[in-house]
Amino acid sequence: MQIASQVKFGDIIILSGDLGSGKTKFVEGFLTYFNLQNEISSPTFTIVNEYDTNDFKIFHFDVYRLEDIDEFSAIGGEEYFEKGVSLIEWGEQIESILPPNYTKITFNRDYLDNNIRNISIEFFGNSNYVIN
Ligand SMILES: Nc1ncnc2c1ncn2[C@@H]1O[C@H](COP(=O)(O)OP(=O)(O)O)[C@@H](O)[C@H]1O
Ligand SMILES: [Mg+2]
Repeated sequence: MQIASQVKFGDIIILSGDLGSGKTKFVEGFLTYFNLQNEISSPTFTIVNEYDTNDFKIFHFDVYRLEDIDEFSAIGGEEYFEKGVSLIEWGEQIESILPPNYTKITFNRDYLDNNIRNISIEFFGNSNYVIN
């Protein structure tokens, strides 16, 4: 997982795409890089799950069920950003309050092959990962 190997404390990655497009699967792969694969659970009802690596915490958000950005702030959402690495499913919903540096990964089902996902990666501010 090239991105997981490059993340550092404070990084924010938002995961955008329809239901079933592979956002949670991506997080699973990401956690596997840190040997946390057995611990994943969907944060759909808890909004955020927390994982510990040797170097930083990983916060896995799913903000789908939040009514609005105020609700994200009410649960102290922004405070997580400076405490570790944040992966945010449906993060485009809170994009307007994100700090300037973040990465956005957009997932799309392939229209021909149901087993294929097409992704695009956008870097905002000075966020950057090298993808070969
Ligand atoms: N890259 C992929 N290639 C093939 N199937 C995938 C891929 N990513 C996810 N899937 C399948 O799609 C389904 C939904 O994936 P999930 O990650 O839960 O989607 P989301 O979190 O975006 O709603 C799962 O059954 C998963 O196995
Ligand atoms: Mg999901």
